[in-house]
Amino acid sequence: MTTALITGATAGIGAAFARRLAADGHDVVLVARDVKRLRAQATELHDRHGVEAEVLPADLSTEDGIAAVETRLADPRQPVDLLVNNAGFGNKGRFLDVGMADELTMLKVHCEAVLRLTAAGARSMRERGRGGVVNVASVAAFVPRGTYGASKSWVVQFTQGAARDLAGTGVRLMALCPGFVRTEFHQRAGMGTDGIPGWMWLDADKVVADALADLARGRTLSIPDPRYKALMGVVKLAPRALLGGVSTRMGRKYGPQ
Ligand SMILES: NC(=O)c1ccc[n+]([C@@H]2O[C@H](COP(=O)([O-])OP(=O)(O)OC[C@H]3O[C@@H](n4cnc5c(N)ncnc54)[C@H](OP(=O)(O)O)[C@@H]3O)[C@@H](O)[C@H]2O)c1
Repeated sequence: MTTALITGATAGIGAAFARRLAADGHDVVLVARDVKRLRAQATELHDRHGVEAEVLPADLSTEDGIAAVETRLADPRQPVDLLVNNAGFGNKGRFLDVGMADELTMLKVHCEAVLRLTAAGARSMRERGRGGVVNVASVAAFVPRGTYGASKSWVVQFTQGAARDLAGTGVRLMALCPGFVRTEFHQRAGMGTDGIPGWMWLDADKVVADALADLARGRTLSIPDPRYKALMGVVKLAPRALLGGVSTRMGRKYGPQ
């Protein structure tokens, strides 16, 4: 029996990872802030799939929260075989409209927590000679767009660099870059979604299935869905000034209201 630890496991993409991994027979450690929701989800996964579902409440924007998850990942008596760094959020407003405290909180959750948890998890996995880490970034990593895109760009660069450093150790690392996914993300950030064309929306369960298939193939970057693969191919070739303009117009149209 293997164990997967998922951050941001109570909603959206993280909940989809927890469902799929539990259905595949993995014990799960569920991390998020809302204890009531965590407990309800753990009970459901245990009852439905017969796996152990542990609850680890932690706010990854705090020192105590990150440290608690680091400690769990480093515990040799309860090894974690797969770590999914998924917790994340959007901030309402453009640069200078968002308060500095909120910008810094985003960097703490999207970058510092991902760095520290990846290090804690990968170190124990390397000792055991096997394991995997999925760091959830976004296609926003590939376009110039505020702290959110920059933080996700960091996740991609960091993960692919660390994957190269750990090649041959038995530890796989992969950055996952979904496009728009139907979750609580946009509502929580106060973002309007009415204008987003239907074809741009992805299903969280399908994103997770594609991600786990890519991880099994040994990919270090996963962009689920052929539509977004094609779009990111175009983005790679486009000049950054043009991308900045399109990204800003998209942000005005689909971004925070
Ligand atoms: N939805 C999209 O279109 C989309 C696209 C690309 C990438 N992503 C990325 O996918 C990841 C998951 O997003 P989602 O769409 O699934 O969002 P979501 O439905 O809003 O879920 C976010 C999850 O993260 C947890 N969380 C948020 N802040 C946290 C904190 N400080 N400490 C611990 N847990 C925290 C939430 O639980 P609690 O509130 O209980 O803590 C929740 O379980 C994020 O990294 C996001 O940037 C999303």
